[in-house]
Amino acid sequence: MLVVAALVVTMVGIALAAWYGGENHAGTVTVTSAASQPAAGTPVNAAVAAGAHDFVRFACDQCHGEQGVGDISPDVPALTDVGKTFTVAQMTTIIERGLGSSSDPKKPYMPVWHGIISKQQISDIVAYLNAGLPAVQGAEPIPVPQDQGDAVAGSILYTNLGCVNCHGPNGLGGVPNPQSADQIIPSLSGKGFREEFPPAQIREIIVSGSVLGKPPIVSMPHWGSILTDAEVSQLIAYIGTLS
Ligand code: HEC
Ligand code: HEC
Repeated sequence: MLVVAALVVTMVGIALAAWYGGENHAGTVTVTSAASQPAAGTPVNAAVAAGAHDFVRFACDQCHGEQGVGDISPDVPALTDVGKTFTVAQMTTIIERGLGSSSDPKKPYMPVWHGIISKQQISDIVAYLNAGLPAVQGAEPIPVPQDQGDAVAGSILYTNLGCVNCHGPNGLGGVPNPQSADQIIPSLSGKGFREEFPPAQIREIIVSGSVLGKPPIVSMPHWGSILTDAEVSQLIAYIGTLS
């Protein structure tokens, strides 16, 4: 009887883990904090708490793992020790201007966030990194439902991956990119968009990104080793519903 109960518990665990998302998304499963991180429930100050929420809102967790523990992609470092390695000024510059080579379309780089994340939010994120990325209640990505169709899953991914911060709600665009030729980050909707970007083209740009120039120009990040094919399909299905 006990053996059966244990088996049921294990199977529910596996089902839940599978439901939570794609294979590359270890980060979306709630993880217990690593040994070097402050224990859950340790009180944090307001800046650190705000930083933890911004860390999720701007999808840092999607590339660097929940609470920055890594394990998402071999190309993306863990952030658990950055507070010891870098000064506040260095971390601020990395977030504002990005890091790594953006010229290899097969590998992700640290995106440029200049003008997308406010100075206050960057300062809060740096406080959170400096505090060792503690667990903060509610600072978690939204669970992605896998039983309601691709478009629904894609709409949640659109938020969790921070597409919304650059392309706007419902892909309406309008976010300034003053140093770029168009001076604006493109919308993902409308007749012109549909004609120029059939699904295969959208897949290509999500996976390989599109670099418009050096910082502070904001470019489309590479999501290649971060997202599964299925997740990219879900995003494409969602974008297809935008009119
Ligand atoms: C699209 C994936 C992606 C996203 C999103 C992302 N990063 Fe990064 N980040 C990287 C990669 C790749 C590197 C390594 C760059 C290199 O050194 O080549 C990196 C490096 C860093 C570093 C330097 C770490 C080190 O040890 O060198 C910091 C700090 C950092 N990121 C913070 C952030 C923060 C804060 C956010 C959210 C605002 C964020 N990242 C979002 C991909 C990403
Ligand atoms: C840091 C800001 C940023 C983020 C985050 C971002 N994008 Fe982009 N995206 C851009 C920029 C800038 C371009 C324009 C690139 C160009 O013109 O070559 C772009 C272009 C695109 C395009 C092609 C449309 C066009 O007119 O060029 C698609 C499709 C797209 N992004 C989808 C996404 C999806 C899906 C996500 C989330 C997984 C995402 N983007 C996240 C900045 C961003």
